[in-house]
Amino acid sequence: MRIALSTGGGDAPGLNAVIRAAALSATNRGWEVVGIRRGFYALLGEDDVVPLTREAVRGIGHMGGTILGTTNRGNPFRYPRKRADGTYDEIDRSDELVNHARELGIDAIITIGGDGSMALAQMLFEKGVRIVGVPKTIDNDVGGTLTTFGFDTAVNTAIEALDKLHTTAESHDRVIVMEVMGRNAGFIALHSGLAAGADVILIPEIPYDIDKVCGKIQRRDKAGRHFSIVVVAEGAFPVGGQVSVLGNSLPGQALRVGGIADRLAREIQAVTGKECRSLVLGHLQRGGMPTGYDRILATRFGGAAVRAVAEERWGEMVALKPPDIVTVPFAEVLRDERRVSLKDDIVLTARAVGVSFGD
Ligand code: F6P
Repeated sequence: MRIALSTGGGDAPGLNAVIRAAALSATNRGWEVVGIRRGFYALLGEDDVVPLTREAVRGIGHMGGTILGTTNRGNPFRYPRKRADGTYDEIDRSDELVNHARELGIDAIITIGGDGSMALAQMLFEKGVRIVGVPKTIDNDVGGTLTTFGFDTAVNTAIEALDKLHTTAESHDRVIVMEVMGRNAGFIALHSGLAAGADVILIPEIPYDIDKVCGKIQRRDKAGRHFSIVVVAEGAFPVGGQVSVLGNSLPGQALRVGGIADRLAREIQAVTGKECRSLVLGHLQRGGMPTGYDRILATRFGGAAVRAVAEERWGEMVALKPPDIVTVPFAEVLRDERRVSLKDDIVLTARAVGVSFGD
Protein backbone atom coordinates (compact mmCIF):
# COMPACT_ATOMS: atom_id res chain seq x y z
CA MET A 1 0.00 0.00 0.00
CA ARG A 2 1.36 3.41 -0.97
CA ILE A 3 -0.54 6.42 0.36
CA ALA A 4 -0.02 10.13 -0.28
CA LEU A 5 -0.71 13.08 2.02
CA SER A 6 -1.56 16.58 0.84
CA THR A 7 -2.10 19.84 2.74
CA GLY A 8 -4.16 22.49 0.91
CA GLY A 9 -5.63 25.94 1.55
CA GLY A 10 -4.49 28.31 4.30
CA ASP A 11 -2.23 26.68 6.87
CA ALA A 12 -3.33 26.01 10.46
CA PRO A 13 -1.37 25.06 13.58
CA GLY A 14 -1.57 21.27 13.89
CA LEU A 15 -0.99 20.30 10.24
CA ASN A 16 2.39 18.80 11.05
CA ALA A 17 0.87 16.80 13.92
CA VAL A 18 -1.62 15.27 11.43
CA ILE A 19 1.20 14.49 8.98
CA ARG A 20 3.28 12.88 11.73
CA ALA A 21 0.41 10.80 13.13
CA ALA A 22 -0.74 9.62 9.69
CA ALA A 23 2.79 8.83 8.51
CA LEU A 24 3.66 6.88 11.67
CA SER A 25 0.32 5.00 11.77
CA ALA A 26 0.68 4.00 8.11
CA THR A 27 4.37 3.10 8.40
CA ASN A 28 3.59 0.93 11.41
CA ARG A 29 1.12 -1.00 9.20
CA GLY A 30 3.94 -1.61 6.72
CA TRP A 31 2.59 0.94 4.21
CA GLU A 32 4.70 3.41 2.27
CA VAL A 33 3.85 7.12 2.70
CA VAL A 34 4.68 10.05 0.44
CA GLY A 35 3.86 13.75 0.67
CA ILE A 36 2.46 15.78 -2.24
CA ARG A 37 4.14 19.15 -1.95
CA ARG A 38 2.11 22.43 -2.03
CA GLY A 39 -1.50 21.28 -2.24
CA PHE A 40 -1.74 19.20 -5.41
CA TYR A 41 0.97 21.09 -7.31
CA ALA A 42 3.32 18.09 -7.09
CA LEU A 43 0.76 15.93 -8.96
CA LEU A 44 0.68 18.55 -11.72
CA GLY A 45 4.44 18.34 -12.17
CA GLU A 46 5.00 21.72 -10.50
CA ASP A 47 6.66 20.47 -7.33
CA ASP A 48 7.98 17.25 -5.79
CA VAL A 49 6.46 14.18 -4.21
CA VAL A 50 8.60 13.44 -1.14
CA PRO A 51 8.98 10.32 1.03
CA LEU A 52 7.38 10.63 4.47
CA THR A 53 9.44 8.11 6.38
CA ARG A 54 9.65 7.82 10.15
CA GLU A 55 12.78 10.03 9.99
CA ALA A 56 11.05 12.66 7.81
CA VAL A 57 8.32 13.28 10.40
CA ARG A 58 10.52 13.07 13.48
CA GLY A 59 10.11 16.02 15.89
CA ILE A 60 7.50 17.95 13.88
CA GLY A 61 4.37 17.38 16.01
CA HIS A 62 4.73 20.62 17.93
CA MET A 63 5.65 22.80 14.95
CA GLY A 64 3.35 25.30 13.22
CA GLY A 65 2.99 25.41 9.42
CA THR A 66 3.23 22.33 7.22
CA ILE A 67 6.39 20.55 6.10
CA LEU A 68 4.61 19.84 2.80
CA GLY A 69 3.86 23.49 2.01
CA THR A 70 0.39 24.57 0.93
CA THR A 71 -1.43 26.89 -1.42
CA ASN A 72 -4.85 28.45 -1.75
CA ARG A 73 -4.46 28.58 -5.54
CA GLY A 74 -4.04 25.94 -8.22
CA ASN A 75 -7.41 24.17 -8.09
CA PRO A 76 -6.73 21.45 -10.72
CA PHE A 77 -10.30 21.71 -12.04
CA ARG A 78 -9.97 25.47 -12.55
CA TYR A 79 -6.27 25.98 -13.06
CA PRO A 80 -5.31 29.56 -14.00
CA ARG A 81 -3.62 29.80 -17.43
CA LYS A 82 -1.96 32.99 -18.65
CA ARG A 83 -3.01 34.05 -22.14
CA ALA A 84 -0.68 35.78 -24.60
CA ASP A 85 -2.34 39.15 -23.83
CA GLY A 86 -1.52 38.79 -20.10
CA THR A 87 -5.08 37.96 -18.99
CA TYR A 88 -6.01 34.59 -17.44
CA ASP A 89 -8.52 31.88 -18.19
CA GLU A 90 -9.07 28.56 -16.40
CA ILE A 91 -8.39 25.02 -17.60
CA ASP A 92 -9.24 21.60 -16.18
CA ARG A 93 -6.03 19.70 -15.31
CA SER A 94 -7.69 17.06 -13.15
CA ASP A 95 -7.07 14.19 -15.62
CA GLU A 96 -3.38 15.04 -15.59
CA LEU A 97 -3.43 14.88 -11.77
CA VAL A 98 -5.22 11.52 -11.68
CA ASN A 99 -2.83 10.03 -14.27
CA HIS A 100 0.24 11.30 -12.47
CA ALA A 101 -0.98 9.80 -9.17
CA ARG A 102 -1.47 6.47 -10.97
CA GLU A 103 2.02 6.63 -12.52
CA LEU A 104 3.50 7.22 -9.08
CA GLY A 105 1.75 4.09 -7.77
CA ILE A 106 -0.35 6.06 -5.26
CA ASP A 107 -3.14 3.78 -4.01
CA ALA A 108 -4.94 6.36 -1.84
CA ILE A 109 -4.76 10.03 -0.89
CA ILE A 110 -5.35 11.70 2.48
CA THR A 111 -6.18 15.35 1.84
CA ILE A 112 -5.93 17.74 4.79
CA GLY A 113 -7.82 20.97 4.16
CA GLY A 114 -10.83 23.21 4.61
CA ASP A 115 -14.15 23.30 2.76
CA GLY A 116 -12.42 24.25 -0.52
CA SER A 117 -10.16 21.19 -0.27
CA MET A 118 -13.14 18.96 0.61
CA ALA A 119 -15.05 20.23 -2.46
CA LEU A 120 -11.99 19.37 -4.55
CA ALA A 121 -11.74 15.98 -2.85
CA GLN A 122 -15.38 15.25 -3.68
CA MET A 123 -14.69 16.00 -7.36
CA LEU A 124 -11.60 13.76 -7.36
CA PHE A 125 -13.62 11.03 -5.61
CA GLU A 126 -16.22 11.31 -8.38
CA LYS A 127 -13.39 10.72 -10.87
CA GLY A 128 -12.56 7.47 -9.10
CA VAL A 129 -9.72 8.65 -6.85
CA ARG A 130 -9.51 6.74 -3.55
CA ILE A 131 -9.42 9.70 -1.18
CA VAL A 132 -10.27 10.51 2.44
CA GLY A 133 -10.25 13.93 4.12
CA VAL A 134 -9.04 15.55 7.32
CA PRO A 135 -10.71 18.87 8.24
CA LYS A 136 -8.45 21.85 8.82
CA THR A 137 -9.07 25.55 9.35
CA ILE A 138 -8.51 28.10 12.05
CA ASP A 139 -11.97 29.52 11.18
CA ASN A 140 -13.78 26.38 12.42
CA ASP A 141 -16.23 26.60 9.52
CA VAL A 142 -15.95 23.06 8.11
CA GLY A 143 -19.23 21.15 8.23
CA GLY A 144 -19.67 17.72 9.75
CA THR A 145 -17.19 18.19 12.61
CA LEU A 146 -17.66 19.91 15.95
CA THR A 147 -14.29 21.58 15.56
CA THR A 148 -11.07 21.64 13.55
CA PHE A 149 -7.49 21.73 14.80
CA GLY A 150 -5.94 25.19 14.56
CA PHE A 151 -9.02 26.93 15.89
CA ASP A 152 -8.03 26.65 19.56
CA THR A 153 -4.53 27.98 18.84
CA ALA A 154 -5.93 30.91 16.84
CA VAL A 155 -8.42 31.76 19.59
CA ASN A 156 -5.63 31.76 22.18
CA THR A 157 -3.49 34.02 20.00
CA ALA A 158 -6.43 36.44 19.67
CA ILE A 159 -7.09 36.35 23.43
CA GLU A 160 -3.47 37.20 24.18
CA ALA A 161 -3.68 40.19 21.82
CA LEU A 162 -6.99 41.37 23.31
CA ASP A 163 -5.62 41.16 26.85
CA LYS A 164 -2.79 43.46 25.79
CA LEU A 165 -5.11 45.87 23.99
CA HIS A 166 -7.31 46.15 27.06
CA THR A 167 -4.65 47.81 29.19
CA THR A 168 -3.59 50.36 26.59
CA ALA A 169 -7.21 51.13 25.60
CA GLU A 170 -8.04 51.80 29.26
CA SER A 171 -4.95 53.98 29.82
CA HIS A 172 -5.91 56.23 26.89
CA ASP A 173 -9.72 56.14 27.16
CA ARG A 174 -9.78 54.79 23.60
CA VAL A 175 -11.90 52.46 21.55
CA ILE A 176 -9.76 49.76 19.95
CA VAL A 177 -11.17 47.66 17.13
CA MET A 178 -9.37 44.38 16.43
CA GLU A 179 -10.05 42.43 13.23
CA VAL A 180 -9.66 38.67 13.36
CA MET A 181 -9.94 36.03 10.65
CA GLY A 182 -13.24 34.46 9.71
CA ARG A 183 -14.44 35.28 6.22
CA ASN A 184 -17.68 33.32 6.53
CA ALA A 185 -17.92 32.38 10.19
CA GLY A 186 -17.41 34.36 13.37
CA PHE A 187 -16.16 31.63 15.70
CA ILE A 188 -12.72 33.18 16.36
CA ALA A 189 -14.25 36.60 17.10
CA LEU A 190 -16.97 35.12 19.29
CA HIS A 191 -14.75 32.82 21.35
CA SER A 192 -11.80 35.19 21.77
CA GLY A 193 -14.10 38.15 22.41
CA LEU A 194 -16.03 36.37 25.12
CA ALA A 195 -12.89 34.97 26.76
CA ALA A 196 -11.15 38.37 26.78
CA GLY A 197 -14.15 40.44 27.90
CA ALA A 198 -14.74 42.37 24.67
CA ASP A 199 -17.61 44.86 24.74
CA VAL A 200 -18.71 44.44 21.13
CA ILE A 201 -18.34 41.33 18.94
CA LEU A 202 -19.26 41.60 15.26
CA ILE A 203 -19.57 38.45 13.14
CA PRO A 204 -20.73 37.62 9.60
CA GLU A 205 -23.73 35.71 10.94
CA ILE A 206 -25.19 38.87 12.58
CA PRO A 207 -25.18 41.96 10.30
CA TYR A 208 -24.52 44.96 12.53
CA ASP A 209 -26.06 48.41 12.89
CA ILE A 210 -23.35 51.04 13.50
CA ASP A 211 -25.72 53.06 15.72
CA LYS A 212 -26.19 50.05 18.00
CA VAL A 213 -22.42 49.57 18.19
CA CYS A 214 -21.92 53.24 19.07
CA GLY A 215 -24.83 53.14 21.54
CA LYS A 216 -23.07 50.42 23.50
CA ILE A 217 -19.81 52.41 23.59
CA GLN A 218 -21.64 55.60 24.66
CA ARG A 219 -23.51 53.80 27.45
CA ARG A 220 -20.22 52.49 28.79
CA ASP A 221 -18.77 55.99 28.61
CA LYS A 222 -21.68 57.41 30.64
CA ALA A 223 -21.20 54.67 33.21
CA GLY A 224 -17.58 55.73 33.67
CA ARG A 225 -16.00 53.06 31.46
CA HIS A 226 -14.25 55.39 29.05
CA PHE A 227 -12.66 52.71 26.87
CA SER A 228 -14.12 49.88 24.80
CA ILE A 229 -12.85 46.83 22.95
CA VAL A 230 -14.49 45.76 19.71
CA VAL A 231 -13.62 42.42 18.07
CA VAL A 232 -14.72 42.07 14.47
CA ALA A 233 -14.49 39.06 12.17
CA GLU A 234 -13.09 40.08 8.78
CA GLY A 235 -16.28 38.92 7.06
CA ALA A 236 -18.67 40.99 9.24
CA PHE A 237 -20.80 43.55 7.41
CA PRO A 238 -23.48 46.16 8.23
CA VAL A 239 -27.19 45.54 7.76
CA GLY A 240 -27.90 46.09 4.07
CA GLY A 241 -24.19 46.55 3.34
CA GLN A 242 -21.27 44.64 1.87
CA VAL A 243 -18.26 42.71 3.18
CA SER A 244 -15.05 44.81 3.00
CA VAL A 245 -12.61 43.40 0.45
CA LEU A 246 -8.98 44.06 -0.39
CA GLY A 247 -8.36 44.25 -4.12
CA ASN A 248 -5.13 42.30 -4.39
CA SER A 249 -5.90 38.63 -4.92
CA LEU A 250 -3.86 36.67 -7.50
CA PRO A 251 -5.22 34.63 -10.43
CA GLY A 252 -7.00 31.51 -9.18
CA GLN A 253 -7.37 32.94 -5.67
CA ALA A 254 -10.59 33.89 -3.85
CA LEU A 255 -11.27 37.58 -3.28
CA ARG A 256 -9.36 38.73 -0.19
CA VAL A 257 -11.57 39.90 2.65
CA GLY A 258 -10.39 42.63 5.06
CA GLY A 259 -10.38 46.26 6.11
CA ILE A 260 -13.49 46.23 8.28
CA ALA A 261 -11.65 47.23 11.50
CA ASP A 262 -10.31 50.42 9.97
CA ARG A 263 -13.73 51.28 8.54
CA LEU A 264 -15.41 50.70 11.91
CA ALA A 265 -12.83 52.73 13.83
CA ARG A 266 -13.42 55.70 11.53
CA GLU A 267 -17.20 55.39 11.79
CA ILE A 268 -17.20 54.96 15.59
CA GLN A 269 -14.93 57.99 16.02
CA ALA A 270 -17.19 60.08 13.77
CA VAL A 271 -20.35 59.15 15.70
CA THR A 272 -19.08 59.07 19.30
CA GLY A 273 -16.25 61.59 19.14
CA LYS A 274 -14.11 59.09 21.01
CA GLU A 275 -10.55 58.42 19.93
CA CYS A 276 -10.41 55.13 18.03
CA ARG A 277 -7.60 52.86 16.89
CA SER A 278 -7.72 49.68 14.83
CA LEU A 279 -5.52 46.72 14.05
CA VAL A 280 -5.67 43.57 11.98
CA LEU A 281 -4.34 40.52 13.82
CA GLY A 282 -3.95 38.75 10.47
CA HIS A 283 -1.68 35.81 9.88
CA LEU A 284 -0.35 35.77 13.46
CA GLN A 285 -3.49 33.68 14.05
CA ARG A 286 -2.28 31.02 11.64
CA GLY A 287 1.25 30.75 13.01
CA GLY A 288 3.00 29.40 16.06
CA MET A 289 2.99 26.14 17.95
CA PRO A 290 -0.37 24.37 18.21
CA THR A 291 -1.95 24.27 21.67
CA GLY A 292 -2.16 20.95 23.48
CA TYR A 293 -5.82 20.63 22.44
CA ASP A 294 -4.96 21.12 18.77
CA ARG A 295 -2.00 18.72 18.88
CA ILE A 296 -4.18 15.99 20.33
CA LEU A 297 -7.07 16.61 17.92
CA ALA A 298 -4.67 16.73 14.94
CA THR A 299 -2.97 13.52 16.06
CA ARG A 300 -6.35 11.79 16.50
CA PHE A 301 -7.41 12.94 13.02
CA GLY A 302 -4.15 11.65 11.47
CA GLY A 303 -4.56 8.24 13.08
CA ALA A 304 -8.26 8.09 12.16
CA ALA A 305 -7.52 9.00 8.53
CA VAL A 306 -5.23 6.00 8.18
CA ARG A 307 -7.92 3.78 9.73
CA ALA A 308 -10.40 5.26 7.23
CA VAL A 309 -8.04 4.29 4.38
CA ALA A 310 -7.70 0.76 5.81
CA GLU A 311 -11.51 0.53 5.95
CA GLU A 312 -11.77 1.95 2.39
CA ARG A 313 -14.00 4.84 3.45
CA TRP A 314 -13.41 6.67 0.16
CA GLY A 315 -15.18 10.01 -0.21
CA GLU A 316 -15.38 10.56 3.54
CA MET A 317 -13.80 12.98 6.01
CA VAL A 318 -12.77 12.22 9.57
CA ALA A 319 -14.68 14.38 12.04
CA LEU A 320 -14.94 15.07 15.75
CA LYS A 321 -18.24 13.95 17.23
CA PRO A 322 -17.40 13.85 20.93
CA PRO A 323 -16.27 11.60 22.37
CA ASP A 324 -15.56 9.87 19.04
CA ILE A 325 -13.79 10.50 15.80
CA VAL A 326 -16.20 9.41 13.06
CA THR A 327 -16.24 9.70 9.26
CA VAL A 328 -18.72 11.84 7.31
CA PRO A 329 -19.27 11.77 3.50
CA PHE A 330 -17.78 14.80 1.72
CA ALA A 331 -21.24 15.56 0.29
CA GLU A 332 -22.61 15.94 3.82
CA VAL A 333 -19.64 18.08 4.91
CA LEU A 334 -20.26 20.43 1.98
CA ARG A 335 -24.01 20.57 2.54
CA ASP A 336 -23.84 21.43 6.28
CA GLU A 337 -21.54 24.47 6.40
CA ARG A 338 -20.64 25.30 9.96
CA ARG A 339 -21.68 28.76 11.15
CA VAL A 340 -22.36 30.47 14.49
CA SER A 341 -26.01 29.95 15.36
CA LEU A 342 -27.83 32.74 17.15
CA LYS A 343 -29.24 30.04 19.39
CA ASP A 344 -25.79 28.79 20.49
CA ASP A 345 -25.44 29.02 24.25
CA ILE A 346 -22.20 30.95 23.79
CA VAL A 347 -24.13 33.70 21.94
CA LEU A 348 -26.86 33.70 24.57
CA THR A 349 -24.29 33.88 27.35
CA ALA A 350 -22.37 36.68 25.64
CA ARG A 351 -25.60 38.68 25.36
CA ALA A 352 -26.45 37.89 28.98
CA VAL A 353 -23.16 39.31 30.24
CA GLY A 354 -23.68 42.49 28.23
CA VAL A 355 -21.76 41.93 24.98
CA SER A 356 -23.26 43.81 22.03
CA PHE A 357 -23.45 42.07 18.63
CA GLY A 358 -24.48 45.35 17.05
CA ASP A 359 -28.02 44.09 16.45
O1 F6P B 1 -7.92 29.88 6.74
C1 F6P B 1 -8.99 30.70 6.36
C2 F6P B 1 -8.55 32.10 6.45
O2 F6P B 1 -7.95 32.23 7.68
C3 F6P B 1 -9.65 33.14 6.26
O3 F6P B 1 -10.27 33.53 7.44
C4 F6P B 1 -8.91 34.28 5.60
O4 F6P B 1 -9.77 35.08 4.85
C5 F6P B 1 -7.95 33.56 4.75
O5 F6P B 1 -7.60 32.38 5.45
C6 F6P B 1 -6.75 34.37 4.38
O6 F6P B 1 -5.82 33.54 3.80
P1 F6P B 1 -4.62 34.00 2.89
O7 F6P B 1 -4.18 35.35 3.33
O8 F6P B 1 -3.60 32.94 3.12
O9 F6P B 1 -5.14 34.02 1.50
